[in-house]
Amino acid sequence: MPQNSLNQFGYRDFTLGEFSFRRDEYFAHIEWPGGTHTVPVDKFLKALIRDVAWNFFYGIVNFDEVFGTLNHYGNVDVFAGLYNAGYKAQKKEFVRNFPSDEVRAAFAAILDDWTNEGFDPFAAPEETGSAFGPKRGINPIAVKRKRVTAERMAGLKNDTPLRSDADGHPVNRHFADVNQTEPKVHAEPGFEDEVHAFNFFAYLSRSDVTWNPSVCSVVKDSLTCPTTEEFVLPIIHGNDRVEWFVQLSDEIIWDVSDRETGAPRARVTMKAGDVAAMPADIRHQGFSPKRSMLLVWENADSTLPELYASGKMKPNPVDF
Ligand code: PHB
Ligand code: FE
Repeated sequence: MPQNSLNQFGYRDFTLGEFSFRRDEYFAHIEWPGGTHTVPVDKFLKALIRDVAWNFFYGIVNFDEVFGTLNHYGNVDVFAGLYNAGYKAQKKEFVRNFPSDEVRAAFAAILDDWTNEGFDPFAAPEETGSAFGPKRGINPIAVKRKRVTAERMAGLKNDTPLRSDADGHPVNRHFADVNQTEPKVHAEPGFEDEVHAFNFFAYLSRSDVTWNPSVCSVVKDSLTCPTTEEFVLPIIHGNDRVEWFVQLSDEIIWDVSDRETGAPRARVTMKAGDVAAMPADIRHQGFSPKRSMLLVWENADSTLPELYASGKMKPNPVDF
């Protein structure tokens, strides 16, 4: 809940159950019974906007090594130190469960109030202004941006539209060489609204956000979620299922660690054309030195987290 008064920097303080949140010019400060934590505010807002826009995503969204959320799809654990080996060893972890709506409302209110004019937490650092300083206006267009989610496939009639200069999606500076020609579709009469194809690379070259998988096609539980990446994935994602990655262009380096403890497990450099299956028992964070295109292939089957958690399914889908 927001407190009414503004602090000396012009920002509101917030509480969510026993957690409290305040920001100053550079940092977000989080407090709970038994602990405090400090996060650079640009980093905090970039994680926060994704947690809100993705409705807590699949499994764990670690804002950093200490603070984050665990999605139970309807309710959410908000935690400090729960997936940090040091906190756990000292029994210093703190976790509270809330209805998802309550966390989303609180996080959205923080995001609204703490995001200054000119700072877009979804944008690449080179393409946005500063998050820092005293309160300076608002950025409702950025913080209320809706994640693209196709019903069936982007560009189909009555589905999420393709992108163009005209609707405010110019080709990104790093994708100037991407061919923009659209395929020609010759459908049998009567099937014009059913048969469909589009230039996937052209579509992605016009994405104005980074590290924000959008659902571009849906077949039952199979979701293709492409995204364009630049700089650092602002969360450390703890999987509750396997995720397949297809690197469509350029290069991303992944730090892969144990989901529970954060102990390092692998460094994976994915170059254009590489495919990886990220196991269900890891956390990962990506680094993209220039804007790149990544296809994240998600399985939305709601029975998966329990199958992995109970050990009925192996965390890795293939053995080599
Ligand atoms: C992931 O955690 O798997 C993830 C999240 C956002 C992205 C890419 C991958 O943009
Ligand atoms: Fe992930």
